Amino acid sequence: MSAIQKMMQELEPEYIKIRRYLHQHPELSFQEENTTKFIKDELNKYGIEVYDNKGFTGAVGVLHGAMPGKTIALRADIDALPVKENTGLEFASVNEGCCHACGHDLHMTSLLAAARLLSKYRQHLHGTVKFFFQPAEEKLGGSETIINNGFLDDVDAVFGVHTWPDVPGGSIGIKYGPMMAGSDSFKITITAPGGHAAHPHKTPDPIAAAAYMITQLQTIVSRELNPLDSAVITVGKMTAGTAANIIPSEVVLEGSMRYLVPETRRQIHESIKRIADGTALALRVHAETEIIPGCGPVIGADNLVGMIETSAAKLLGNDKVSILPSASMGSEDFSFYLAKKPGAFFRIGTGMADPNSHLALHNGKLLFSEDAISAGAVTFCGIVFLFTGSDFSMLE
Ligand code: NI
Repeated sequence: MSAIQKMMQELEPEYIKIRRYLHQHPELSFQEENTTKFIKDELNKYGIEVYDNKGFTGAVGVLHGAMPGKTIALRADIDALPVKENTGLEFASVNEGCCHACGHDLHMTSLLAAARLLSKYRQHLHGTVKFFFQPAEEKLGGSETIINNGFLDDVDAVFGVHTWPDVPGGSIGIKYGPMMAGSDSFKITITAPGGHAAHPHKTPDPIAAAAYMITQLQTIVSRELNPLDSAVITVGKMTAGTAANIIPSEVVLEGSMRYLVPETRRQIHESIKRIADGTALALRVHAETEIIPGCGPVIGADNLVGMIETSAAKLLGNDKVSILPSASMGSEDFSFYLAKKPGAFFRIGTGMADPNSHLALHNGKLLFSEDAISAGAVTFCGIVFLFTGSDFSMLE
């Protein structure tokens, strides 16, 4: 067992208690008042400087090493979901209809434990460590509050974490290259004069046009993109019509697109617009396409992913590092940091023998292995030592 693991082992019962408290008291995006206060109080206890995320929930802690060096940021998100908890745990949510079903309670607890451990190593630490406790990841916008408040400006690299049911509890999952998808939304508004269902010769039919558009949009992924370049186009909402005997004057299609590399994003935008315009022309309706930008893909810098791998392999053991077999087409607002600074992202495994620990994230019955707390905290500490050039052998 590594030195830092031993130190963490002594603290583990305390952090399991903290995790259970946070789990029991979840709060929705941008409403994380109690969670923020709890985090600030903890950081203060460790002697870490704490800054308000001015105007928003969330907080930023700053630990100055005794020696000069680079600045690294570690990020955990703190919000819960509007999901009813159905785990039967004794520390299940007391806030009806709100639950940490995405494991953000484990992210916060891991990062608090890392802050505690690193504060004990302050005398040996080069540079500065910033702890980003970010609100509202689930709304894909909380990271912008941290960025807009200037906390990222002096950071040289940023690292983030997320739980993952498919990786065993106590292990770390990494991936070189694209790890999570970029995501944008689109809205196509199809218009025509409107008229009587019995007289199709008097007005073009926007519902028929919308139906063609939906099927043709699927050809972007199947017939236009390189099959080795993953993408998704989903039309999730269609608003049309008021009665069976009326040809309506407007149909609105709303959808989501996912992609792994920026070039694909541009191509999908162009294709959606071309198909909407071309189908509209062919079927005599008018189409207006709007792309609503979301977030970019999560693609870690290879050398920084390498630091995560080295940290976990040396401090937890080689058998505790899994290379993830594929990227996820889910999105993560950590990508807003990556748009500005180099960084990398990793998974902390939460899988256990219980099949309910292998349900999808956001499921109200999902269980998480608490071994994730120590694995995440120890890995974070190793990353800090490697990135800042502090004496890593002290942790081994
Ligand atoms: Ni999440």
